[in-house]
Amino acid sequence: MAKITLSIIKADIGSIGGHIKPSQKLLETVSNYIKEKGRGLIIDSYIGHTGDDIAILTTHKKGPSNPKIHKLCWDAFLAGTKIAKSQGLYGAGQDLLVSAFSGNVKGMGPQVAEMEIEERPAEPFLMFMADKTEPGAFNLPLYLAFTDPMHNAGLILSPKVKEGFKFVIMDVSYTKVDKIIELKAPEEIYDIAALLRDTGRFVVESIFSRASGEQVVSASTTRLHNIAGKYVGKDDPVMLVRTQKDFPATGEILSPYTITPLVAGFMRGSHNSPLMPVKKNTSISFFDGPAIVSCLAFCEKEGKLTESADTFDHPYWDYVREQAAQETQELRRQGFFGAAMLPMSELEYTGVMETLKELEKRFKIRKGR
Ligand code: 13P
Ligand code: 13P
Ligand code: MG
Ligand code: MG
Repeated sequence: MAKITLSIIKADIGSIGGHIKPSQKLLETVSNYIKEKGRGLIIDSYIGHTGDDIAILTTHKKGPSNPKIHKLCWDAFLAGTKIAKSQGLYGAGQDLLVSAFSGNVKGMGPQVAEMEIEERPAEPFLMFMADKTEPGAFNLPLYLAFTDPMHNAGLILSPKVKEGFKFVIMDVSYTKVDKIIELKAPEEIYDIAALLRDTGRFVVESIFSRASGEQVVSASTTRLHNIAGKYVGKDDPVMLVRTQKDFPATGEILSPYTITPLVAGFMRGSHNSPLMPVKKNTSISFFDGPAIVSCLAFCEKEGKLTESADTFDHPYWDYVREQAAQETQELRRQGFFGAAMLPMSELEYTGVMETLKELEKRFKIRKGR
């Protein structure tokens, strides 16, 4: 059986009219670059956007973290940035935080989700892309899809699925090297929940089947402010999920997105909003949001991709989107107040810190009691 690597590398390198969507020319530049320069290196590719983020999906035989694959995508983003600058796009090169490529785009700004798979006779998988949010946005949908029979009927109906899954969770506040913990579902689901509730700090990096040991999920974990030391844009994440057979069914993976949980990343990366499931190549609008997530389904054979199936392009999700819009309105009614805006710990990379510093000087200790 062939070993194939699926790689998603994603970056925001510029957008029309603010943080809305990339230009057609920008998308074409990145796409053409990958097609031309990737010849002989990659097997197949798909390039798309969600909001202002461009994701490059490639299939190849080089394994994860391969310098040639990473350089190909990095250079495609550099070529795109040139075009973004020439068109006067907003935030040209926004996510390319480091000037010299050093073998791997991890820690340089782009989001990365990769896995090497022992190809099954049929290989269905999902490509998730989100905008105006952060990697922790996938925490709840992954927790529910892999531990809860209310969403994953396979936990009752399929003996292999019932054997459970191993979660690898990263502490993204630790920036020197990767700091991870492995926890087993179902035995340790309360421990998993205790970590995953803290979306800004603990992020699901990968999930493995306990029946076969195979990898099912690879999710991106980059937090830009940890690299840049200031707010430069949100860490809009990407994720790969394999489905069916010994893994959850595609519909089980999608099921939790019906909840539209509140996530961080709305307007200036500083507000909460429901996570709205959207169709492919959706742009951004109201209050620079709300947070959106798209999901494209593919099958592949020896690295050759089918066309994508747009999983959230269905009447059911129109209803969910309407609900998410209503929830968004509810939250926006309270503007900057309380849970609508992120806590100061998350805002400490923004300009509000200067205001607080100035105000601190004007605070007085009252004399007497
Ligand atoms: P089919 O019978 O259409 O293959 O579907 C099986 C299944 O598991 C759907 O969740
Ligand atoms: P992005 O992170 O998607 O670029 O959005 C940044 C922003 O500040 C939107 O208000
Ligand atoms: Mg942007
Ligand atoms: Mg974005």
